[in-house]
Amino acid sequence: MRVAVFSTKPYDRDFLTVANATAGHDLTFLEARLTAQTARLAEGADAVCAFVNDDLCAEALDQLAEAGVKVVALRSAGFNNVDVAAARKLGLTVLRVPEYSPHAVAEHTAGLVLALNRKIHRAYNRVREHNFALTGLLGFDLHGRTVGIVGTGRIGVCVAQIMVGFGCRVLASDPYPNDAAIAAGVEYVPLERLLAESHIVTLHCPLTPDTWHLINAERIALFREGVMLINTGRGALVDTRAVIEGLKSGQIGYLGLDVYEEEGELFFEDRSERVLGDDDFARLTTFPNVLITGHQAFFTEDGLHNIAATTIANLTAVAHDGPDAVTGPPRVC
Ligand code: NAI
Repeated sequence: MRVAVFSTKPYDRDFLTVANATAGHDLTFLEARLTAQTARLAEGADAVCAFVNDDLCAEALDQLAEAGVKVVALRSAGFNNVDVAAARKLGLTVLRVPEYSPHAVAEHTAGLVLALNRKIHRAYNRVREHNFALTGLLGFDLHGRTVGIVGTGRIGVCVAQIMVGFGCRVLASDPYPNDAAIAAGVEYVPLERLLAESHIVTLHCPLTPDTWHLINAERIALFREGVMLINTGRGALVDTRAVIEGLKSGQIGYLGLDVYEEEGELFFEDRSERVLGDDDFARLTTFPNVLITGHQAFFTEDGLHNIAATTIANLTAVAHDGPDAVTGPPRVC
């Protein structure tokens, strides 16, 4: 299959090339993000391979279909960046990687919790300046604290198991309670109760029209004062401006983000030589109790290996047995 791979970074090229060694697809690596303006770069390809900040809006999908593309193979679990209805109408097959390493994301989530709580990001800088004072670095024991997990799918369950391991009481909210989470000792409660009782709230549900700005000003008002909020799901699960107000008032005591509402214009590139045009992001970076990583929770050797292997397997199945060869969770439409 001829495949145009968009948003390619050196690590994507390395892992996909290894995974493709025996499959033999004809991969063309493009650095460009996939948008309505760049979709025509796929001319002559049977499939495109896209990542989280590629914009598969109706117009881009139109362009792809006109260029002869039949298959969209996402290198991600989330597919909120795809206009699924438009893809279905155009007869495009959209595939994803439903599970590559829930542990990678869950462990990064735990990393943000620990770093924020014990102020490791600040301690690192202090010690490098030979400032060994502890004032301002006071943390709290995780043991005995309450953690609220919104969304207990593959990643949320791993987070629950890690937090139970720390000795936390774990509450969860999910329309479909998960047996593995219950077995780990998780108690399912309504979202409002979870927000009111948790010292740490962490988001692991997908971004859908229902979960857009799930954490807004009204819900922030329900939080325990000084809560730690962690978002490694998708940026638009939280209303950034409302969160900034929550930080200013002290209602939010700690914020850990791996994703950001407007990350498409920022993340995955070195922008250190340029002026930052996003005032909300700039404001977030001024708070001492905010820790942001640039969508790297998935970024482990294991995660990249599995993403590449599943993406190539998805393409091979469709190439050999037609568009209906892939079913179940990897199939978006
Ligand atoms: P999953 O599909 O296994 O689980 C999602 C869970 O959320 C399901 O149990 C579902 O019932 C629940 N859910 C849906 N709507 C909800 C709501 N309104 N309230 C509470 N729960 C709700 O997905 P998985 O693999 O656990 O991933 C979760 C999300 O994490 C993905 O959709 C993606 O956006 C994000 N992600 C982020 C990564 C990163 O690098 N930062 C990497 C991979 C995924």
